[in-house]
Amino acid sequence: MAQVIRDVAEMQATAAQIRASGQRIGVVPTMGFLHEGHLSLIRLARQHSDVVITTIFVNPAQFGPSEDFNRYPRDLDRDKDLAFDAGSNYVFAPDTGAMYPDGYTTYVNVERMTTSLEGKSRPGHFRGVATIVAKLFNITRPHCAVFGQKDAQQVIVVRQMVRDLNFDIEIIVAPTVRERDGLAMSSRNSYLTLAQRKEATVLYRSLAMAEDGIRSGERESKQIVRKMTDLIASSSGIIDYISVADGTTLDEVKVCEPGRPILISLAVRFGATRLIDNIALTV
Ligand code: PAJ
Repeated sequence: MAQVIRDVAEMQATAAQIRASGQRIGVVPTMGFLHEGHLSLIRLARQHSDVVITTIFVNPAQFGPSEDFNRYPRDLDRDKDLAFDAGSNYVFAPDTGAMYPDGYTTYVNVERMTTSLEGKSRPGHFRGVATIVAKLFNITRPHCAVFGQKDAQQVIVVRQMVRDLNFDIEIIVAPTVRERDGLAMSSRNSYLTLAQRKEATVLYRSLAMAEDGIRSGERESKQIVRKMTDLIASSSGIIDYISVADGTTLDEVKVCEPGRPILISLAVRFGATRLIDNIALTV
């Protein structure tokens, strides 16, 4: 019963039928070009629901004017097979005009925690994310939705939107899936040259070093950031930001106090390719 649906009304009607039959729907929103990270989300969704809907839509509203919307990798044929093999029952893959028809004017703006980190570097990004996620929730009518810790700020923004707009949806977070050398899987890794791909492990190595430091007693964010900066400086990566923040509010912290959840996150550019990664820990 694996099926690709491209039409919004058909997806809505199908979701309504599934709900009416008493089955639990889990949704996994993606922009496609699926990799093992996405597939782990689908498998987790399976464990929490009877019917899994994977959405594949490269959302123009979350890309800045000079970002990679046009060259973002796309391969629906391959994606649908991967999604079905991982246990997805439906793939919802609308085209842009179906999601943003002429005359479209409504956007969801989550305030405060969207102004730092990714939100600061990519103005308007989370407005686009919140808008499309809200639309996908209304179209797929899920009981639960799975998101990856890879995009930690996105998880926090989606949770806030769900709370504020009273979506009756459980948000489930899946751990970051990494390549053997530690690089977090990402559709954007396909942009990297071989040399950049090797150097890109510096993101995870710097996070692992920060975690080690904290485990051996380091508490000062300044010191943590300095050491990470030094390590990344040994590569051709250009740092966009390195942040040591409160894991729930995303407010920057000066000192990692015991018991406080901490999110260490960073964005680094290799040529035109911008990569992000993070680790969450409690001292
Ligand atoms: P995309 O980058 O395709 O990611 C889809 C989902 O997969 C997100 O929840 C993301 O956090 C998760 N993911 C990506 N790489 C992962 C990895 N290595 N390990 C675990 N999970 C990983 O995030 C988006 O799309 C979009 O912003 C979206 C939510 C679909 C809205 O357009």
